[in-house]
Amino acid sequence: MKALVLSGGAGTRLRPITHTSAKQLVPVANKPVLFYGLESIAEAGITDVGMIVGDTADEIREAVGDGSKFGLDVTYIPQERPLGLAHAVLIARDYLGDDDFVMYLGDNFIVGGITGLVDEFRHNRPDAQILLTRVADPRAFGVAELDASGQVIGLEEKPDRPKSDLALVGVYLFTPLIHEAVRAIEPSWRGELEITHALQHLIDSRADVRCTLVKGYWKDTGNVGDMLEVNRTVLEGVERRIDGDVDDASETIGRVVVEEGARIVGSRIVGPAVIGSGTLVSDSYVGPFTSVAENCRITDSELEFSIVLRDSSIQGVGRIESSLIGRHVEVTPAPSVPSAHRFVLGDHSKVQITS
Ligand code: G1P
Repeated sequence: MKALVLSGGAGTRLRPITHTSAKQLVPVANKPVLFYGLESIAEAGITDVGMIVGDTADEIREAVGDGSKFGLDVTYIPQERPLGLAHAVLIARDYLGDDDFVMYLGDNFIVGGITGLVDEFRHNRPDAQILLTRVADPRAFGVAELDASGQVIGLEEKPDRPKSDLALVGVYLFTPLIHEAVRAIEPSWRGELEITHALQHLIDSRADVRCTLVKGYWKDTGNVGDMLEVNRTVLEGVERRIDGDVDDASETIGRVVVEEGARIVGSRIVGPAVIGSGTLVSDSYVGPFTSVAENCRITDSELEFSIVLRDSSIQGVGRIESSLIGRHVEVTPAPSVPSAHRFVLGDHSKVQITS
């Protein structure tokens, strides 16, 4: 069995974070979301991975390399434009050959991995197997309709009026039968060859398409609240590890990770929290469910339930909560006169002020 991992796409939903980075590399607990997917593929006993890449190919290649650090053998397959998930299957035809494969969307996060699902598929070997999860707003997803026995009878891509709250999760298990289906369909209104339509084609031709309901799922819907929640879920599973320097005037409580090269000075860190290498936290409080990435400066501030990406600095600004802070960001107090907020905000930024 092989894996086809999709790491193209523009990532418009997570702006401004994805203005400067591939959406698959957005970090969850200081690790790119794509890496969790690759680890779960390796864990499921799959080693051959075809990686579909687009405009952000260089960045993805730099992060993943030949895959050996995950125990994988990665082959890059360039897609000239984001022409759809079924198009990705089409261009991977030679690579996939006649093997069964798992198609994994690199911006999806599945708590608990995919080993159980892959084993189930290998055992039962239906023509295709899809994953579904209940979501609050199904209009941002492919949506499944089931009959009374739980069999999938219809799939729609981002419908205005969804027939259920069961969204298609971005992990699909296929036999080579899918290759006929992706050749049989036409582009959708958004100009893409939709995998949802290829699956519908299989259902219409009476193929055996099974579904499994999963819990613990996240994708980049652009909702920062969801991103903070997935960060929380992952942090809940971390083990305490202090590899950096913590001075005597500091306290680290519970499941705190301080990476090698990080320094904690006169501060209090309450886990679960991770502090990336090269980061300095001084005279500050970092509270539960917070990830601070590499090479940041947190000085004379309080931070809780937040994500700070690399090379950012937060100095003397009191308490920050429920925030997602990008790369190379500076947050500082304003001079006392005149009393005014001063911003330099990129496109698609969001700011909430308390005063
Ligand atoms: C794609 C699929 C959609 C699925 C989603 C899961 O959407 O077309 O059916 O629910 O992935 O991530 P896209 O990311 O292209 O908007």
